[in-house]
Amino acid sequence: MRGRGRPASRRAAARYGDPMITRRNDSLPPGPRLPSAIQTVGWWTRPTGFLERCRRLYGKRFTIRLSAQDPFVMISDPDEIKQVFTAPPDVLYPGEGARILEPIVGPNSILLLDEGAHMAQKKLVLPAFHGERMKGLEPMITEVTRAQIESWPRGELMAMHPRMQALTMDVILAAVFGLRSGDRLTELRLALTEMLEFGLSPLSLLPPAQRAPFGLGPWAKFIKVRARADELIYAEIDDRRQRPDAGGSEIIASLIEARHEDGSPMSDEEIHDELLTLLVAGHETTATELAWALERLTREPEVMAKLISAVDEGDGEPYLTATIREILRHRPVLLNAAPRTVKKAIEVGGVRYEPRVHLVASAWLVQHDPDIYPEPYAFRPERFLDSDPGTYDWIPFGGGRRRCIGASFAQMEMAVVLRELLRSTEVTAGADGAEFTIRRAITVTPGRGAETVLADRATA
Ligand code: HEM
Repeated sequence: MRGRGRPASRRAAARYGDPMITRRNDSLPPGPRLPSAIQTVGWWTRPTGFLERCRRLYGKRFTIRLSAQDPFVMISDPDEIKQVFTAPPDVLYPGEGARILEPIVGPNSILLLDEGAHMAQKKLVLPAFHGERMKGLEPMITEVTRAQIESWPRGELMAMHPRMQALTMDVILAAVFGLRSGDRLTELRLALTEMLEFGLSPLSLLPPAQRAPFGLGPWAKFIKVRARADELIYAEIDDRRQRPDAGGSEIIASLIEARHEDGSPMSDEEIHDELLTLLVAGHETTATELAWALERLTREPEVMAKLISAVDEGDGEPYLTATIREILRHRPVLLNAAPRTVKKAIEVGGVRYEPRVHLVASAWLVQHDPDIYPEPYAFRPERFLDSDPGTYDWIPFGGGRRRCIGASFAQMEMAVVLRELLRSTEVTAGADGAEFTIRRAITVTPGRGAETVLADRATA
């Protein structure tokens, strides 16, 4: 009986995770034997250092144990990453680990679903991101970017991360709803920013019952803000449904046109949940990657000079594209793809994994592997000038059927923002020395928020 051995198994659980899972996964790859509480602190406070240390000690594949969770096996060999990304949908479940986001994105979100339900939703959303629609959105992104850049102060030390958050919020609201001005935009911007702040707070990680036992505090405030955001989003959906022939490249228009396999349209709830998913998944990630872009470029004068002349000459796309790929390699804002929870036993790289273990493809480790990228800590866009990144060794957007739906959108947005910023301003670092990496919920951001000083180029 499990109950009898409680004290011992509780100690073991604290140290190594659930002992039953450990026993069934006796052959898990080696990893740190520190208590899980200490591993959790390492993982949350010094994630990149923690990962690198584990790789030095245990190799490209190792097991880490975080408090109150089943073991996570970190994988960074491209062959093994391929096996994880291409495993059948009923064997590995990425959606389960994202359940924590349900209060924000709603139960129909593609982030939370697995197997057939996931594919069905993804098929409905994918057309919104096809090449032609993306092209249709570029002029709008450029306009929003120019307006933001003009409003930023000159000659003052400022953190670029919050500025980029404001910029990507306006871009995603325009791309999703076509909103460019007006009260609804102002209100939605405010409500979503507050909701996302809650998503970043440690409180959001607790089970609902523990979040607000007396219906007070941040959880109650979150519920109120969410109700306001829902009201605004449903009003937008209603307005669009009244104008079925309005067309447009906005994402909401594509979702209203989308049809399930049986020919039925998406329900209001489905559209609401997918729109919120795109707002949540597409805003903070892109803002942080842009903040890293400036943190890196201002410390790499040669790259910066080449990029500026490429952009000025107007045929800068190959160098700009290569620079963006290198930023995503060197500073991936998500250190790993979504953890895949084993549902049915699977063998990867000759190791058999039993249910409940999480398999995690590590973008940080594979993208800093000297066997794949010589001098991996050097920032060198030239790596990608003559060759495209590999499918399983460049994974800032994950891979397989779960690959990020907004990968092209994000890279296009990054290109527009960098092009517009470097054409109109001279950007310098706020201080010497690289900024440390700090964790902000699931993303890693520059420690001082990418401090920079802007000057108008005409007067620079
Ligand atoms: C630089 C910016 C971005 C980065 C680094 C990023 C990264 C990622 C990663 C690593 C995943 C998990 C993939 C996996 O586990 O295999 C993901 C999923 C996703 N991303 Fe992004 N993303 C970015 C921007 C965007 C944008 C702009 C959007 C939408 C407008 C978006 C929407 C999504 C969605 C909906 C998913 C879930 C896909 C699924 O589960 O099938 N992302 N992203």
